Amino acid sequence: MNGTELPTARRLFGKLPFVDPGRPPLPARTAFLTGASSGIGKALAAELCARGYDVYLTARRIEVLEELRARLTAAFPQRSVTVAALDVTEHEAVARAVDDAARQFGGLGMVIANAGADDWGNIGEGRFEAHRAVVDVNLLGAMATIDAAVAHFRSKGGGQVVGVTSVVAAAGLPGGAPYCASKAGLTRYLQSLRGELWNSGITVTTVAPGYIDTPINESLGDKRPFLIDTRTGARKIMDRIESGAVHATVPRVPWTVVEYLLARLPTRLLRKVHA
Ligand SMILES: NC(=O)c1ccc[n+]([C@@H]2O[C@H](COP(=O)([O-])OP(=O)(O)OC[C@H]3O[C@@H](n4cnc5c(N)ncnc54)[C@H](OP(=O)(O)O)[C@@H]3O)[C@@H](O)[C@H]2O)c1
Repeated sequence: MNGTELPTARRLFGKLPFVDPGRPPLPARTAFLTGASSGIGKALAAELCARGYDVYLTARRIEVLEELRARLTAAFPQRSVTVAALDVTEHEAVARAVDDAARQFGGLGMVIANAGADDWGNIGEGRFEAHRAVVDVNLLGAMATIDAAVAHFRSKGGGQVVGVTSVVAAAGLPGGAPYCASKAGLTRYLQSLRGELWNSGITVTTVAPGYIDTPINESLGDKRPFLIDTRTGARKIMDRIESGAVHATVPRVPWTVVEYLLARLPTRLLRKVHA
């Protein structure tokens, strides 16, 4: 899309409730990513580079990130790839890392809060600390990332915030309480933020994947319906992010329907949906 087409497109579509009219036309191709050492994050790092983004990649396992940087720099020599060790539960370190990325790139265009953890197990069976750790990473860690991102984007008047939630944010699945609660919480957090930033030039995108083949769910084996590989998942996620989607199930089919149904199933049916 060129500069002359954009005002027309905005005039036509800007009033629709699912398109943020303040979305900047050409976001700077720089991205900050959490959870880049594995699964979706690792594949997203490669997809971002392939699409021309300079990237600042974070996770706790720096040695894995160093390997990834070597691979990406060889494949995309024109791209700038920075890696940094970061635990998203250390909130001040998260803010420092976002600032560092912004300084390094002379401003950030996109921040993706992707880091996530899981622990399945029933409530009241001695797993409280493990359950709390899931919320620490998935909700508070993502909030810390998003808070730092928004502070930066407000100061420069634009950008895109992306939070990776899950289709299971739509329901509380038995045995998955902390994961479902953390993703539901993040979904609502992003929804509040979207209202705060509507028409501000800062886009807020919620990405809700279905099953993508990564270590977080590999123990489920063949009990992962509609499973896709990480490369396909990352490509579809980036397509939705770059389209400026507000809420993106990935892949859209069948997960938009599944998400709709999950939110409406009565408990007697929902209790049979157990990962
Ligand atoms: N795969 C799916 O089917 C699926 C479906 C819905 C939603 N999701 C969401 O997608 C996101 C990525 O998950 P994935 O499937 O790619 O899982 P994964 O392969 O297990 O990757 C999880 C990533 O999060 C990072 N991480 C975990 N704890 C962290 C912490 N305290 N601080 C910083 N980074 C941390 C891990 O890096 P380090 O261990 O190196 O820190 C790793 O890079 C998660 O938010 C997950 O909930 C996945």
